Amino acid sequence: MAMTRPVIAGNWKMHHDAAAARAFFAELLPELPAGADLTLAVFPPALSFAAAADAVGARPDVLLGVQNIHWEASGAFTGELSAPMAAAAGARLALVGHSERRQLFGETSRQTALKVRAALDAGLAPLLCVGETLEQREAGAAEQVVREQLAAVYDGLSPEGAARLLIAYEPVWAIGTGRTAEPSDAAGMHRSIRRFLEQRCGGEIAGATPVLYGGSVKPDNARDLLSAGDVDGVLVGGASLNAATFVEIARAAS
Ligand code: 13P
Repeated sequence: MAMTRPVIAGNWKMHHDAAAARAFFAELLPELPAGADLTLAVFPPALSFAAAADAVGARPDVLLGVQNIHWEASGAFTGELSAPMAAAAGARLALVGHSERRQLFGETSRQTALKVRAALDAGLAPLLCVGETLEQREAGAAEQVVREQLAAVYDGLSPEGAARLLIAYEPVWAIGTGRTAEPSDAAGMHRSIRRFLEQRCGGEIAGATPVLYGGSVKPDNARDLLSAGDVDGVLVGGASLNAATFVEIARAAS
């Protein structure tokens, strides 16, 4: 079990324009459990980021992140966003390797590794997403797939860099499907991720790295998932779009 405070993260994906982002935080911020020992993070779309940053202001209990970055700091990459730009806009975190990036946009493990390094260079904490498809799980290859995804990033990473990563285990078959991993399945994979970290980075980094679960997390399953062994938080998609629902999930952690 990692010795970290729970991380409740919301990935809005391609939802919520600037006005919706402002309305979300106007509803969310007064409702956050006072003095709760948790870290809340939200990943708005890039075009809503400034509105979200403005709404959150200087509150130390809410971190913002971007959903994707390019691995170069600047250049002729039409449509892309760089990690230094995200940091300058107030981002503290960057999602890297989300399964939608890997599957729908052809992001390779090599690119994921480069993005993790770019995030670290810019002072952002990468939230690295890993997870197997249903086919891979049914073939008994889930742990191996996740270890390979992790190895692609951790190979050659300095201990200082490794110490700043967060990980989200998001089984692809549980994303947006309403089908959640059983808490025991999540715990099994989280244990395997922790073992990988121990072998690669040693016990201290392994113990301090937050490992989140993502995939159809809702208020009614959040508490069970958060109580599963080695689960240090949740990465929520659909249920993070509604402030009241997201607060309910945060309450499950406090
Ligand atoms: P859902 O919670 O909508 O299944 O999405 C999970 C996810 O992909 C978060 O990054």
